[in-house]
Amino acid sequence: MGSSSAARAAELREILARALVAYHVEDDPIMPDAEYDGLYDELVELERRHPELVTPDSPTRRVGAPLSDRFQKVRHLSPMGSLEKVTTEESIVKWAEDVRKRLGSDEPVAYVVEPKIDGLAVNLTYEDGVFVRGATRGDGIQGEDVTPNLRTIGAIPLRMLGDDPPAVAEVRGEVYLPLSGFRELNERLAGTTQKLAPNPRNAAAGSLRQKNSAITAERPLSTWIYGTGHTEGVVFGGQFEMLQWLRERGFRTNPYAERLETIEEVAIACREWETRRIELDYEIDGIVIKVDSLDQQRRLGALHSCPRWARAFKWAPMTAQTRLLEILIRVGRTGALNPWALLEPVEVGGVTVSRATLHNEEDINRKEIREGDLVIVQRAGDVIPQVVGPAGPHQPGTKRFRMPKKCPLCGVDVVKPEGEVMHRCPNRACPSRGLETLNNWVMAAADIEGVGEQSIRRFWDLGLVRSLPELYRLTEEQLLELEGFGEISAGNTIRSIEASKQVPFSRVLFGLNIPKVGWIMAQNLARHFGTVDRLQDATQEEIQEIDGFGPDRAELIVEWFADEQNRALVQELRELGLRFEAGEEERPVEGPLTGSSYAITGTLENSTRDEARAALEALGAKVSDSVSGKTTGLIVGEEPGQSKVTKAQRAGVPTLSEADLDALLRS
Ligand code: IVH
Repeated sequence: MGSSSAARAAELREILARALVAYHVEDDPIMPDAEYDGLYDELVELERRHPELVTPDSPTRRVGAPLSDRFQKVRHLSPMGSLEKVTTEESIVKWAEDVRKRLGSDEPVAYVVEPKIDGLAVNLTYEDGVFVRGATRGDGIQGEDVTPNLRTIGAIPLRMLGDDPPAVAEVRGEVYLPLSGFRELNERLAGTTQKLAPNPRNAAAGSLRQKNSAITAERPLSTWIYGTGHTEGVVFGGQFEMLQWLRERGFRTNPYAERLETIEEVAIACREWETRRIELDYEIDGIVIKVDSLDQQRRLGALHSCPRWARAFKWAPMTAQTRLLEILIRVGRTGALNPWALLEPVEVGGVTVSRATLHNEEDINRKEIREGDLVIVQRAGDVIPQVVGPAGPHQPGTKRFRMPKKCPLCGVDVVKPEGEVMHRCPNRACPSRGLETLNNWVMAAADIEGVGEQSIRRFWDLGLVRSLPELYRLTEEQLLELEGFGEISAGNTIRSIEASKQVPFSRVLFGLNIPKVGWIMAQNLARHFGTVDRLQDATQEEIQEIDGFGPDRAELIVEWFADEQNRALVQELRELGLRFEAGEEERPVEGPLTGSSYAITGTLENSTRDEARAALEALGAKVSDSVSGKTTGLIVGEEPGQSKVTKAQRAGVPTLSEADLDALLRS
């Protein structure tokens, strides 16, 4: 009995360890969670009945007793160096030249590039394949023993996979918190008196330095392993081979590590990752470039603990801390009060930032954003900088943000319609609204050459133009009286305003400033109704027939056209010669697919999405940007947007492959 229990316990440990590697390292689970839990419980029970069967590498021993004292210092078997950084492509090439010179210029050199994980360096010591000690980097010579906390991280094997493990191996990598885990953690902490973590790196560090490993176990920490330190019983030829070995032994190595033969390819990879990095669910602050061959590494050696065989190519960080000086309000063209943050100028990702967008009152307070605090500012991709949240505890005397009760420009009482998050100025004559409408008209809707925001501001201030009809009644004589206008420029300006009367109906609709009618929606309305007469007499139900128009949007449109002032505006613009009928290109196409509506997601192999859209529209189908119950089918390409696919499944909308689409177009 005893021996069969022992065999079963060993078997369970082995299965559970493999399951963890499959889940954390290979991203390819071999059993459902419930089955894992069942086997885990079986092992717990076995060990309870036979305490003598418990081994230190048992998966049931991941959480240990709380630490009573400070973390012990431990000396690394071999020191943990650091990396010299480079910031330009030229300096990468210069480094490679130096490497070549030192090695003898005929010798081929290959490189390994790896994402530089912005986490916490750790050193994991394995003896005969068993994890015995784990420490932080510390000063590179000795670090803090955080073994109990590291043991709770599922991605760290308590025993290496495979037979004949090396007698001793220091395994090195980065402990990090995925961005999703970081957001979750902060949302959880926001409900407590605890401080929020300013960034994932700090959150990971805090999690790893807990006295009670049960708390660490609750944090979704993971690791990327990138190398070894001192080893006995195993040798490697190169860095890339070492990574493969580590992976086979059950360590989580980064799938984006690449071996490249030329420094030009290395430079290209570095450039590409600068934009690609936002696709990752963890922060990287650069790319580590290593000479692949360990023999060449040894010959190159190190300088002041920085290896000559490696460099960290680093980007400017995409987040920064700065002071939020003031929350200001801009009133948009539909009357929405848009808050934005005036910041003490700070460099983020190589650009000086002094303002950032904010969304609405609720969002600002949920994120604990307050005037006067130090805040974290983030740029992602090319989008406008955003305020993520406070960088630490609130400054004394700061207050929760309140939207002003009155419109900052016209003083009329602000409203917040039921069910909406935005506050609005209801005053249609509010100067900011008229100004924004004109700006939107000359910059976007009609896109009038030579008339920009500055001219509009000037005309407005002088009282020359305060509405769209007034813009079209502007004369050359009026302009000639203004400083800076001569015969030629005045003539050109009036001519381009005149020419803008020919913009298509859909653009005019977009420029009218109807709530919730943006550019795409305006096109759909123009195509569906064809003329403004049909549109202004349409019922809510008729508008709702169009894909993408729910009851709220339809109701707002009906209300807008029911307003006498708006009808008068339409009439006036029509008399001035603007187009209120759809042109040829905007007419609905009658065809075999008329009445059906499709959405497309992902990349198509044989055509671009625009081409597919045009082909469907040519047959009379509508193509929409979103999936709803009215969608006839969702065309799914490579790497589709998951939310669209899920939505289609929920709404019972059939999905079509690219081959299905081809068949549909042919038939
Ligand atoms: S190799 C001699 N590879 O960057 C040091 N380091 O200054 C060799 N890091 O805190 C380090 N990702 O933990 C290496 N793929 C990677 C890395 C990486 C992040 C960290 C490392 C250390 C710092 C080096």
